[in-house]
Amino acid sequence: MIEKEENISQECRDIISGLPREEGWFQNSLYQFQGFWHQAWLIQGALGFQKHFKACDDDILLVTTPKSGTTWLKAILYATLNRYPTFHLFPTITPISHNHPLLTTSPHLLLPFVEGMYQDNIFRDQIDGMASPRLLFTHMPYSSLPKSVKHSSCKIVFLCRNPKDNFVSLWHFANKIRPKTWGTLSLEEALDKFCRGVSPHGPFWNHVLEYWLESLKRPDKIKFLKYEDMKDQPATNLKILAHFIGHSFSQEEEVGGVIDDILSICCFENLSNLKVNKEGKLPFGMETSAFFRKGQVGDSVNYLSSEIIEKFDSITQEKLGPHGLKF
Ligand code: A3P
Repeated sequence: MIEKEENISQECRDIISGLPREEGWFQNSLYQFQGFWHQAWLIQGALGFQKHFKACDDDILLVTTPKSGTTWLKAILYATLNRYPTFHLFPTITPISHNHPLLTTSPHLLLPFVEGMYQDNIFRDQIDGMASPRLLFTHMPYSSLPKSVKHSSCKIVFLCRNPKDNFVSLWHFANKIRPKTWGTLSLEEALDKFCRGVSPHGPFWNHVLEYWLESLKRPDKIKFLKYEDMKDQPATNLKILAHFIGHSFSQEEEVGGVIDDILSICCFENLSNLKVNKEGKLPFGMETSAFFRKGQVGDSVNYLSSEIIEKFDSITQEKLGPHGLKF
């Protein structure tokens, strides 16, 4: 994957040269493409994704707003989908054994990031050649998804989070991974960008709203999940999720503790303490530890003044309230 803006294709260069541009949060500028702010290399990937991706009816596409708990849900979906072989071999024990892939591999490497992969023909072929059911991941807004995703029977799992916690998590993440030469991103500067909609794959509220509205129209196609609900009732939501993706837990599995095992291996305490997630690096150098901070609901009160909280709440109410979406 290219990531660096100077390496993007001429086609993409021509497109972004006509787009509104703003300084980014962690690296590279953000460009407003199809109504949302993305880095150039991801616009190149989105173009490839839109042009070449052929959805299969049994594909499962995880879509998230950045910093909404992607790492967690990647792990949960992976463990849910890949529980059968072990379980069938040893039906009397639970499937999470000491050699589970999540113990040695970052969740980010277990689900291909489609707009990252579709920048390049070589990576694209890897997605095309994956065994089914394919479990894929994207941050793309609903309006930018390829037609074949919308028209096939593939399932979309969408995860988002309370805007204030999402913002605080993004701000910390940006400061962890920004090049030192960029200096620290102040809370005020980040807040101004976020509230103007200039955040990675933002505007945050529009990103969430598109999936919310579509999930109301097509509940069998899109499962709309909130981080807070997963935290509050993980087992109930995991059962619903497994059913939604067509891999419901059997009675035998439920009694055998499979749901609890999946939740235990994927929980913050476990994942964040694994060597691979503490000391690992993703391709292109990002440290896996950057994806783990506190993993709590409501941490934003520790960073935002009551005035800022009011501002956030009023934007959320104005943008999402009329559509029946509350955080
Ligand atoms: P905080 O910064 O609030 O702690 P993403 O995976 O989309 O980048 O989101 C990162 C956020 O999810 C961070 O939130 C991180 O701590 C939290 N997170 C990571 N793994 C988690 C897990 N297994 N369970 C719950 N939250 C998790």
